[in-house]
Amino acid sequence: MTPPADLARPPQALFSPARSPGLTAPTSLMETARLMRRNPMAILPEALFETTRLTGPYLGRKVHEVSGPAEMKSILQDNFHAWRKSPLILRMLTPILGDSILTAHGESWRRQRRILQPAFLKRRIDRFVPIMAGAGSDAVETLLAADGPADVHAVMNDTTFSVIERALFSDVEGFDRFEVRAAIEVLLEEIGRMRYSDLAPSPEWAPRLMGPGARRARKVFRAAADGQIARRRALDDPGEDLLGLLLSARDEETGAALSDRDIRDTLMTFIAAGHETTAIALTWALYLISHDEACQDALRAEADAVFGAGEPDAEAVPQLVLARQVIEESMRLFPPAPILGRRAVTDTEICGHPVRKGDVALLAFYCLHRHKTLWEHPDHFDPDRWSPERRPRDRYQFLAFGGGPRACIGAQFALQEAAIVLSLIVSRTRITPAHGEVEPVMQVTLRPKGGMPLKIEAR
Ligand code: HEM
Repeated sequence: MTPPADLARPPQALFSPARSPGLTAPTSLMETARLMRRNPMAILPEALFETTRLTGPYLGRKVHEVSGPAEMKSILQDNFHAWRKSPLILRMLTPILGDSILTAHGESWRRQRRILQPAFLKRRIDRFVPIMAGAGSDAVETLLAADGPADVHAVMNDTTFSVIERALFSDVEGFDRFEVRAAIEVLLEEIGRMRYSDLAPSPEWAPRLMGPGARRARKVFRAAADGQIARRRALDDPGEDLLGLLLSARDEETGAALSDRDIRDTLMTFIAAGHETTAIALTWALYLISHDEACQDALRAEADAVFGAGEPDAEAVPQLVLARQVIEESMRLFPPAPILGRRAVTDTEICGHPVRKGDVALLAFYCLHRHKTLWEHPDHFDPDRWSPERRPRDRYQFLAFGGGPRACIGAQFALQEAAIVLSLIVSRTRITPAHGEVEPVMQVTLRPKGGMPLKIEAR
């Protein structure tokens, strides 16, 4: 196995990207609603980078904003049953994803998690390495073909879309790729667009009204997914892609299979949860290394040693050690899901502090990941902090993939994909910044405002 490149450097040699400024004074409800719609990052109090819990009033209840590992563990793991995903996010997701693993709770969620978990075993996701490597090589060509700076965010979106689409449906007979992709784009856009009406308190069961475009897109997607499910059910062998795995998956406790509707909602859920998040992780990683030549050189040396002029295979993936460190460090600085919301469904507590049923918790991963008491030089890009000697020992100090029973089911899939695509791009190109600061804005994920133009030249 190739030893990881040594990237230990003094702090003054490290790049320090912009940090989303936190609130330094209390704001009115109206102002909070305005900030939430523009960029929810702006409602995080600056104090959360130094303290680990703040409690304030919220529409007759309390909001508990937390940014410490113990508080995160208390909510995500120890008192898991006392909390549900926030009604706001459920109202945005449910019309499109249905009662899927991402949105369900209680027994429905537990059953789906049990059935779906085996699809993400290492030996299963190893099968997707060629798809990931092919998409990475296509991305290199697209980036190099750009006339002037390339919008890396747009290219990474295409890349991760093509990976998840091919991992879900290896064969797409009777399926109009372009029409389905366009429909999915409309649906993802619909999920990501927050409206003032979303911020008003309303019962959890109240459906969020969708516009005619989104309703049409949902119909197109559902018809395409239903068609693929029916076609595949008629074959003797369901196949080895994710759709095949979903069709043959059985509940180990009851032996039950997933219904067609469960499968359709799961397909859309994997696309919604796995495509933009991974694209964002790669986009920020490319931005950060565009400012760090030494890191690019070390990544290139690793890629040359591991797969040379070819493409990585399943055996090469565990050797892309530095690539993985760079991805982890990028997701520390720019977590694709920077804030999670939960609502208490019973009275409970956070590290000894009482919480009443109906209270809200905001889990500020962004502040946890840059917390002044947890990290050395928290705002610096330092992939070496993920080396075996330095990486954090507390599981709840880094929560890009969430934690507890509802942690991301696709984390290994995403890390493998991101390491492959990043290594391929760096091994064949040289990346430099196209302009100065970029502004991170939260639209479900933490995106760079206005895209991410970078200069990409052939190596
Ligand atoms: C870098 C990429 C990714 C990031 C940062 C990410 C992040 C997360 C986070 C933070 C959660 C927890 C949400 C919560 O507790 O409210 C989550 C859950 C989930 N993710 Fe990911 N994810 C990524 C990639 C993927 C991929 C590739 C897939 C599938 C192919 C996926 C599928 C899911 C699903 C199904 C859940 C819900 C799990 C449950 O509730 O049991 N994610 N993800």
